[in-house]
Amino acid sequence: MNILLFGPPGAGKGTQSALLKERLNMLHISTGDLFRANIKGQTELGLKAKAIIDRGDLVPDEITIGMVEQEFQKMSGQSFILDGFPRTVAQAEALDRLLATNNMDLGKAIFMDVSHDYLVKRLTGRRVCSDCGATFHVDAMPPKKEGVCDNCGGELKQRKDDHESVISTRLKAYEENTLPVLEYYKEAGKYVEVDGLGETEDVYKRIAAELA
Ligand code: AP5
Ligand code: MG
Repeated sequence: MNILLFGPPGAGKGTQSALLKERLNMLHISTGDLFRANIKGQTELGLKAKAIIDRGDLVPDEITIGMVEQEFQKMSGQSFILDGFPRTVAQAEALDRLLATNNMDLGKAIFMDVSHDYLVKRLTGRRVCSDCGATFHVDAMPPKKEGVCDNCGGELKQRKDDHESVISTRLKAYEENTLPVLEYYKEAGKYVEVDGLGETEDVYKRIAAELA
């Protein structure tokens, strides 16, 4: 089943996608990760997106949709998780067109519900490996050795957009642009909600149950 993992910044979309990818062999497509890879590689797209992402705003729809279209061209029948896309109603409409063109369908839009106070704690405490991209949290999921990735030994860094001043802009962008997408999937009959609070494994079980 193809799914969207949907929710506010810090809801745990990336964490759960990594588990779904590893355990259910799903393809993980995160527009945030794609933008960050482009920024690291200093591509034209990365140069356009960097300042926008660093200040916490959304990258324009045409750039984002074009990037996702390219990812669809690489697909080969594996079930996928879309993480962080669509984030606007225009993106949701573009996704519907993309699915139809490629003879694919979407099973569920899974919304991960996490309240505001937890989001800020999760985001400010997040640390990401600069080599392999693995995600940790200073309190909830600390690495064995501070500042060092358990998986590959790479250096753990804080994302620029995880500073408190930028987080408020991201949450505002989410409320203004992405909450309407929730209604879009309710109307389409694809919407399900899971509680995103609690142990990572418990959240995983709730999501996996939706895929069964
Ligand atoms: P993106 O990278 O997608 O950021 P986001 O949606 O803001 O979400 P995050 O990645 O911050 O959070 P997450 O839900 O993945 O949480 P995670 O699992 O890491 O996008 C970044 C930027 O790119 C956007 O602001 C925008 O500029 C641009 N962009 C991306 N897509 C776009 C689009 N479609 N259109 C336009 N612009 C776009 O978890 C967070 C922390 O919590 C971690 O430290 C983790 O260890 C911890 N944690 C996870 N689960 C638990 C748990 N159960 N208990 C305790 N801690 C937990
Ligand atoms: Mg993420």
